[in-house]
Amino acid sequence: MQVLVLNGANLNVIGRRDPELYGGLSLNELESRIYEWAHALDITARCRQTNAEGEFIEWIHDSYDNVDGVILNPGAWSHYSYAIRDALELLEVPVVEVHLSNIEDREDWRRHSVIADVVSHRVMGKGPEGYHEALEFLAGKEDG
Ligand code: DQA
Repeated sequence: MQVLVLNGANLNVIGRRDPELYGGLSLNELESRIYEWAHALDITARCRQTNAEGEFIEWIHDSYDNVDGVILNPGAWSHYSYAIRDALELLEVPVVEVHLSNIEDREDWRRHSVIADVVSHRVMGKGPEGYHEALEFLAGKEDG
C-alpha cells in the first residue's frame, strides 16, 4: 500500500511552534516516526512538505493514479483553501485530514475546515500520534 503524507504551510517549523499545541517534534523527527509507523503497518509512505499552496495542489494532482491513500495536514490552508478542497474532491482513494492541535477547541477562525466534508476520516488534537492513527485507518481500509 502506497500512502502520500503531505504537510503544508508552516509545518516545517513545528519544532519552534508551541509544543503544547504541536507536540514539540521537528518535522524531520515527525517524518521519521511516520516512516517507522508506516513500515510496521506494511505501508510504503512518502512524506512531503511545502509552504507553497500551488506545489501542495500539484502533489495532490500527481497522486491521482499513483497512491492508495493520502494523509494531509494543510496547516492554515485547511481553513480557507477552496483550491485544495477542489483538488481533493477528485481523489478516488481515502483521504485523512490530520491536525496536531485540536482546531475545534481554538480560535473561531480555526474551527472550520473547508476540506472536512471531502475527506474519509479526520484526526485532531492527538499531536504526532494523529499521523499514526491516520496510517492505521488507511491500513484498515485496505484490509476491509
Ligand atoms: C494545524 C492547525 C492549523 O490551524 C494551523 O494553522 C497549523 C497547524 C495543526 O496541525 O494543528 O499550521 O493544522
